[in-house]
Amino acid sequence: MAKNTVSVKVTKDGLNKIKDNAIVIGFFKDKINLSGELKKFDNENENILSSYIKDMQFKGDKGETKNIYVNKKVKTVVLVGLGEEDKFNFEILSNAVAETSKKLRDSSIETFSILLSSFRNSKMKEEDAVEKISISLFLGLYKFADYKTKDKENKKYVKEIKILTDSNKSFENQLKFASAVGDAVAKTRDLVNTPPNIANTAYVAGYVKELAKNSNLKCTVFDEKQIDGMKMGCLSAVGRGSVNRPKLAVLEYAGAGREKPIALVGKGVTFDTGGYNLKPYPYILNMKDDLGGAAASIHIIEVCAKLKLPINLIVVTPLCENMIDADAFRPDDVLTAFNGVTVEIKNTDAEGRLILADALSYAASLKPVAIVDIASLTGASMVVLGPIGTPIISTDEKLTEKLKEASKKSLERIWELPLWPEYDDSIKSDVADIKNISEEGDAGVIIGAAFLKNFVDEIPWLHIDIGTTVWSKVDKGILTKGGTGASVRLMVEFLREWK
Ligand code: BES
Ligand code: ZN
Repeated sequence: MAKNTVSVKVTKDGLNKIKDNAIVIGFFKDKINLSGELKKFDNENENILSSYIKDMQFKGDKGETKNIYVNKKVKTVVLVGLGEEDKFNFEILSNAVAETSKKLRDSSIETFSILLSSFRNSKMKEEDAVEKISISLFLGLYKFADYKTKDKENKKYVKEIKILTDSNKSFENQLKFASAVGDAVAKTRDLVNTPPNIANTAYVAGYVKELAKNSNLKCTVFDEKQIDGMKMGCLSAVGRGSVNRPKLAVLEYAGAGREKPIALVGKGVTFDTGGYNLKPYPYILNMKDDLGGAAASIHIIEVCAKLKLPINLIVVTPLCENMIDADAFRPDDVLTAFNGVTVEIKNTDAEGRLILADALSYAASLKPVAIVDIASLTGASMVVLGPIGTPIISTDEKLTEKLKEASKKSLERIWELPLWPEYDDSIKSDVADIKNISEEGDAGVIIGAAFLKNFVDEIPWLHIDIGTTVWSKVDKGILTKGGTGASVRLMVEFLREWK
């Protein structure tokens, strides 16, 4: 478990038994009636809810919240507007719950309850609502305060949240799933948020070894010598400019006997200065987030092990730091990747695709059924979808369909871009097999993928460009400022449904 994780429980306790600091109740727009248990609770408390609701003109609009002081036992009832009932969905549910929980935390409330029946419409299964509410609580209440020594605000934590229901179900599986996913997202965010002078290649490699030990995963970490020995000329060259030498970490989870594995490759650049094509201020800021793909991948495999999913999975993470040094690689260099393809360097800032070239062709050499890569590959992903969704590109329709399905379920938005053959012309090189950028600069996300396609053989492959979604500038709903844990929920859902 990540530090300071809130505990979420489901209980059959009626409203009258609750001694929490707050009870959270959802209302649909223009349906602010108190029925059943709520009405009883209101009557037992001198009709305080109904009289306040009349006076306050609470309408139940999406995003609207009102607090009502009740008594010493239950200090506050929080009314949360959910908008129109027929437009209500898991996304509105998730953000409403996350947003409310942040407000309660910031007013120093350490325990509260959520009335499950008030956060569902007739289309939603109770099990799914419990799962989504729990995940949203973990995500919304996440905090990274490791390096704050004075700020009191950062000492506020919610300790326990109860989801109230009259159902006899235990919801054990949903709570287990939610806590595994919540924990994985939190730890992915932690690794992305950790400053790059701490989270360097040796730190991440050590972290991966520790994770493997705790989850009973097979783990191999190749050092620089071995990377050179395996003829991974791209990872070797990109990593050469830093005192933090490159590494390649490989994790293996076996949950399906002798079946062929799925391979997951995650970009792990611990800091991206751009190299000799140095990033100017302010674009160089936050480039510690360039290990987001690796951070997500290692926690995705951890969840697979925790949930004992019936799959075989191999995670390959190339780790390096893109810096300037006498020995660093330069534009005009020609590098040879693990699969023998030669690459002319036109821009040292397009380093992600280089280290992935080696990692993808290494993964392909293990003959998996499919390869998925997660990489903060391009700033151009911002131009395509903004921070709202993640562009994906694939050589395989079935993989794409599966990921789209997982996207709907996990609530992580993705959008497919094409990989038409004409794009290949843009990365033809005069001196080598291919070059690492198109000098025209158009269609940046797709050009990145057109490059990567040269390293996956004929194996079905899907590329997830989290260049923009790896980092959030806002603290809103399930998002917190900084690392987002992008693609953890998405890929866990994808692998959970793998057949
Ligand atoms: N780490 C960046 C991608 C990135 C840039 C993510 C800005 C978020 C914001 C990657 O290594 C990079 O620098 N890509 C270049 C590629 C270009 C030189 C073709 C980019 O997107 O600017
Ligand atoms: Zn770069």
